[in-house]
Amino acid sequence: MSEAERNERRRRAGERVATFVEDGMVVGLGTGRTADHATRALAARVAAGLRIVGVPTSHRTALLASSLGITVVSPEEHPRLDIAIDGADEVDPQLRLIKGLGGALLREKIVAAASGRFVVVVDDGKLVSRLGETAPVPVEVLPFGCTLAAECLRALGAAVVLREAAAGPFVTDNAHYLLDCRFGPLADPEQLESDLRSIPGVLGTGLFLGMTDAVIVGTAEGIEERSASPSLPAGATPR
Ligand code: A5P
Repeated sequence: MSEAERNERRRRAGERVATFVEDGMVVGLGTGRTADHATRALAARVAAGLRIVGVPTSHRTALLASSLGITVVSPEEHPRLDIAIDGADEVDPQLRLIKGLGGALLREKIVAAASGRFVVVVDDGKLVSRLGETAPVPVEVLPFGCTLAAECLRALGAAVVLREAAAGPFVTDNAHYLLDCRFGPLADPEQLESDLRSIPGVLGTGLFLGMTDAVIVGTAEGIEERSASPSLPAGATPR
């Protein structure tokens, strides 16, 4: 698939999710190419009169949103959000995610957790049968003691790489480092998340488990929507 075609699929997903946002909402604005499409589509609605405020998940998204006329606020001003919209690096059939190849995982997880609804936008190349098939699990760590954290991650079975930028380690918006951990396809993402979080110096992981309410997938034909709790047939009673 060409990059232009893949970007078209991202755009379809981003434009669709922007229609979920209603007047007066506090909206989490994700980071990445697909989330950028959603932010641009939201900005077009704001220009047409929609009144919202956005909580960006990165400095990069804050700049984009404010340059397009979206009022940017902090989670301290608005600790509860109506909806968060974000991309992902992998989505499994239970709508569990790997996120963070764009480096914003910690703020993305905080914003998603603070939101009444977390909607993910991806192109269909992000769908996997098991998390870890293609993407590493990014782990955000305190620079102090990061070599020891990497050793602990290796002891869990990962091939660990410190993420690099042009002039040294990649530094997150929170002044931390990222360790990209390749475990291969994950047998038990929940157990791994628990193991990762027990390592001193680990501040966040790119595993987003049990958080997603819906996924909008851009495809060759258009879009597909997947929901974590499919609506019940009329008259059915939840057990
Ligand atoms: C940012 O930290 C990530 O979680 C992104 O959401 C993820 O990398 C998806 O980005 P793209 O839409 O650019 O693939």
